[in-house]
Amino acid sequence: MTTQVIRQNFINFFKTKAHQHIPAAPIVNKDAPELLFINAGMNPFTSIFTGDEAPSFRRVVNSQPCLRVTGKHNDLEEVGLDTYHHTFFEMLGNWSFGDYFKEKAIDWAWELLTKVYELRAEDLYATVFEGSSADNLPADQESYALWKRYLPESHILYANKEDNFWEMGAIGPCGPCTELHIDLRSPAEKAKKSGAQLVNQGDPEVIELWNLVFMAYYRRADQSLAPLPQQHVDTGMGLERLAMAIQGKRSTYDTDAFTPLLTWLSKASKCSYGKELPQDQAMRVISDHIRAISFAIADGQRPSNHKAGYVIRRILRRAVSYGHRYLGFNAPFLYHMVPLVARSFGETYPHISKEQSSLQDIIKEEEANFFTTLTNGLKRLNILLKALPTTQKELPGQACFELYDTFGFPTDLTEVIVKEKGYTIDQKGFTTAMAAQQARAKKATQREYGDWEVVKEGAHSHFVGYDTLCTTSHIIKYRSLTTATGKSYQLVLNQTPFYPEGGGQIGDIGHLIWEGESIEVIDTQREHDLIIHYTQNLPSQPALPCKSEVNGVKRQQTTNNHTATHLLHASLRKCLGNHVVQKGSLVHDQALRLDFSHSGKIAKEELDAIAKIVNEKIRANLPLKEYRNIPMAEAKALGALALFGEKYGERVRVVSFDPLFSTELCGGTHVKGTGDIGFFHIVSETGMGAGIRRIKVITGNRFEQHFRSLQSDYDTICTLLRNKEQPVMAIEKLIREDKAMREALAAAAYLKRKEITNRLLQKVTNPKQAIIIEEVMVSDIESLKKIAFALRAH
Ligand code: SER
Repeated sequence: MTTQVIRQNFINFFKTKAHQHIPAAPIVNKDAPELLFINAGMNPFTSIFTGDEAPSFRRVVNSQPCLRVTGKHNDLEEVGLDTYHHTFFEMLGNWSFGDYFKEKAIDWAWELLTKVYELRAEDLYATVFEGSSADNLPADQESYALWKRYLPESHILYANKEDNFWEMGAIGPCGPCTELHIDLRSPAEKAKKSGAQLVNQGDPEVIELWNLVFMAYYRRADQSLAPLPQQHVDTGMGLERLAMAIQGKRSTYDTDAFTPLLTWLSKASKCSYGKELPQDQAMRVISDHIRAISFAIADGQRPSNHKAGYVIRRILRRAVSYGHRYLGFNAPFLYHMVPLVARSFGETYPHISKEQSSLQDIIKEEEANFFTTLTNGLKRLNILLKALPTTQKELPGQACFELYDTFGFPTDLTEVIVKEKGYTIDQKGFTTAMAAQQARAKKATQREYGDWEVVKEGAHSHFVGYDTLCTTSHIIKYRSLTTATGKSYQLVLNQTPFYPEGGGQIGDIGHLIWEGESIEVIDTQREHDLIIHYTQNLPSQPALPCKSEVNGVKRQQTTNNHTATHLLHASLRKCLGNHVVQKGSLVHDQALRLDFSHSGKIAKEELDAIAKIVNEKIRANLPLKEYRNIPMAEAKALGALALFGEKYGERVRVVSFDPLFSTELCGGTHVKGTGDIGFFHIVSETGMGAGIRRIKVITGNRFEQHFRSLQSDYDTICTLLRNKEQPVMAIEKLIREDKAMREALAAAAYLKRKEITNRLLQKVTNPKQAIIIEEVMVSDIESLKKIAFALRAH
């Protein structure tokens, strides 16, 4: 059974149990600030578990790509070294949102594994939560009893909180879990030692297959547990591990999900897989990482030096350095593997194939840059080694850290190179420098949340800001947030006109106003289903209603720029072709920025034509046509453009300005008529690396300011030239005159130098004699030098 079939069978099975199949969320997480990537199938459903969001379906099935490279669930350093860890994997899940609970979850897990996938019952073990006195939780005897209907007691094991109480992070929804493990060892090995002894012991062939979490609690900031409003089921089964079990392989890397990648690597590097350990590890690292990189970039996360982009850059560099170090690659190679990744995910994730060529361009460029980094790092390493006293044969840890931190030079590579030259590395010093940097980074990014204080029960975060900038609101709940820069508060209102940052548009600012008290809203963000208002203070009486008022000037200018972004996108597609697709945008009150796919610089004339179309559309004052909350199928029928990497729900909003010109899926705020924008002016057009261009634009009153400043410079120029009518001609005349004057001066200086040189030469009787210049005959050093050279030439 291929991986594709295994995935499909999972989905089909739960469909027969009345589950709705829903598409995967983008792997790059935009729903919660502290989580850069989806690392568990449950992340996109967090606010359903907490009760903040009502589910569209009570039973759901999906397959969710996950990336475990940061935070609580981080497997990066393990990957490749063993034969079963991955950074990127797919998690198959069935979900009950306040519907069925333990019994059905266990029954269906058993039925699917033993009847559909035909795994041998005697190879399966179940672990059950043993309880925790710290949390005052009893053992999960209910699950134990449910398993007893299928498994002998020797195959049901109690396990501790560490293994069998699943938590998303330091705070959040959590609950006891029961896990299914499988013993894939040979009969001879099984005879020697029972599988029960190897469950949860890190044996590569006795592995966890499926985790059934019974979400029932919320871990609060003070570490206490509060019951969730409803009980839910969250199950997660790694597709790659399941494939390993079904296909009878000894490792996930031996399944059809990886073999095409390993085969390619073997061929390209001329090293066979399965022979030498370091080469095998390198091949596993690379084949895992190329899948992670391809997914993240296809979801819109380019490698960069910030946050999620930096993580992707590090993963890519880890893959390249393993390839360079152990497989002998000296030039970009990873990008050749993208088509294999695309093929293996086929129709399940068609965006990988669709984005294939741009993925290849981006990865190739990033690889090439890293190879240059490696060369520079090598030069720096040589300098550092040469600077050491001859008796010192140890590279200081700080120097090794500098190479790693500033040059991105992998430490294992440094170690090998210095060893070849007869040096060692001060490991302790390196570890200290690394730990200090990690502590600094942790402090800078640390976010400490207080617990939510509920002020009022009821619905929350109803956004009314498309229609009004001011309304009456109640605070539903609030909590504190402490970061390196200080303490702030997060307020959730029942209804709000404040737009939360999203779709490139910045969050609104404004005020919450009570009788005699006004609190500034300094930012608005979305977290799952919550619209969060950031303030620096709390009101004295949070339970009283307030007037919530958005800063209208800032909002209007931001709105103008958002609509201008849509018009620019449409105009680019019209002028350059439909290959132009938005790859990112930043829309605020001062300017807008659009990144889009296109190769090569855009000529000045083309930019003028693009801007001209947008300005025509502004002058036509096209009315906004908005379709709120329509089914996705209807939006598609309207021809609405969707963007890769954005998460769209079942129901969407479509924004159109002339259906034949611009129709996009968008949650942002937009003008009622394009005339509001006033004027559109392209400030710059630049390249952002492989196949991506960036255009910066100012509009309306910002352009007016820009224009006034240009006008004032122009007036000053005319005054200085004393020519208001034809300043350009006057400047050209000045330039001509200046040139002629310089030429005349140069000619005069030449003659003077010649005359002085001749005069001095006449004083020379013996050519070997030094000429002593007794008087300074010229006033500038350049002429003096030229005279001296002329004398020496004689
Ligand atoms: N949340 C659980 C996990 O990630 C089950 O989906 O393992």
